[in-house]
Amino acid sequence: MLRVPGDKSIAHRAVMFAALAHGTSTIRNVPAGLDVRSTQHAMQMLGATIRTDGGVLTVDGCGGTFSSPAEPIDCGNSGTTMRLLAGILATQPLIVTLTGDDSLRSRPMRRITAPLGAFGALFELSARGTAPMTVHGNGDARGADVAVTIASAQVKSALLLAALGAHGRTRIAGELHTRDHTERLLGAFGVTVASEGAALVLDGPAGLRATTVDVPGDISSAAFLFAAAAAVPGARVVVEDVGLNPGRIGFLDVLRRFGAEVDVQVTATSPEPRGRVAVRGAALHGVAIEPDEIPAVIDELPLAGVLAAFARGTTTVRGAAELRVKESDRIEAFAAAARAIGVDVQTVEDGFSVTGPARLHDGAVVTHHDHRIAMAFAVAARAGGISVTLDDPDCAAVSFPGFAAALEAVG
Ligand code: S3P
Repeated sequence: MLRVPGDKSIAHRAVMFAALAHGTSTIRNVPAGLDVRSTQHAMQMLGATIRTDGGVLTVDGCGGTFSSPAEPIDCGNSGTTMRLLAGILATQPLIVTLTGDDSLRSRPMRRITAPLGAFGALFELSARGTAPMTVHGNGDARGADVAVTIASAQVKSALLLAALGAHGRTRIAGELHTRDHTERLLGAFGVTVASEGAALVLDGPAGLRATTVDVPGDISSAAFLFAAAAAVPGARVVVEDVGLNPGRIGFLDVLRRFGAEVDVQVTATSPEPRGRVAVRGAALHGVAIEPDEIPAVIDELPLAGVLAAFARGTTTVRGAAELRVKESDRIEAFAAAARAIGVDVQTVEDGFSVTGPARLHDGAVVTHHDHRIAMAFAVAARAGGISVTLDDPDCAAVSFPGFAAALEAVG
């Protein structure tokens, strides 16, 4: 039985909300990956006091108002840190600059700055709409009616977090069927996100109350171990205490459709569902991954592409243009890496197709410093019995420190 590091999406939010809250929060099973460290560091720069003891964080919150950081805040490689923080800062009476590494400074930010403008905040970005981003927050913001036009939990979350500091009701409509960690975790910190028809509503200003959060294992990390087992008939892996948020478990369904055996035992449901997942490998066959299921499997699509190389027939992914603006262009990065080890891949603007089973051979993979590309092709190497040279194997540490050892442990 294996465990994986705590969920990155949940941990970012728990650390941010604890930093904003009144009182002292405890967050358990915080992943050691670099992305969540970026959030911790950002919160310290904004005035929260954080003590670390292994994976347990004790956070003294700022009681609703951050203080001005002395320098620009470096969000590293983490899009979630930058976009959610921009939402919080939009309704704080501060001027703050957010920056990041080369990858993060090439990712689109107008998707959040445009709707956040409804709260009267002003943003400076590069001419291409990228960071560094300077947020001129509006401390007198009014609640707003806003629409989410991209199926992105980061955009939805930025708006919900801006609503915390605005006076009156904020209504958020549009593409809301993405992971709902922000909604659930705000509830744990004492703030209600309600529904009004198909919209989400939040009444501000809303103060967060300190609490204790126990972060479940990250299903997006466990997915690499599931895939390593799924690709090899008879292989089996069991991962304990992994998060099962409905907006995150699309890959389990994809695995079943490929032909793998997947068994899920739910052990808790609130604030986040969690449980044990067992996967057994089988002879796989190609699947079609359709646009409406993309949000729940978005981070696992390069990995699904790797699995497709082990499956008989054609696997298609459509409606996934968002892959082009992740830590790398994950459509091109996946396709080039897959071809380097003998996989037949076609790309289109919003997806790709793979025809298998491939006759895999040794090869060298360019990761573009993207953790999920690196780990997906480490899985290809292990399951395919080939040697894959990654130009930056260490980038896995962004989300999954200890990944190589965990992959070795898959029976
Ligand atoms: C995340 C949302 C997703 C996901 C990212 C983490 C989050 O991005 O790809 O890894 O924690 O909200 P989008 O919301 O931009 O799709």
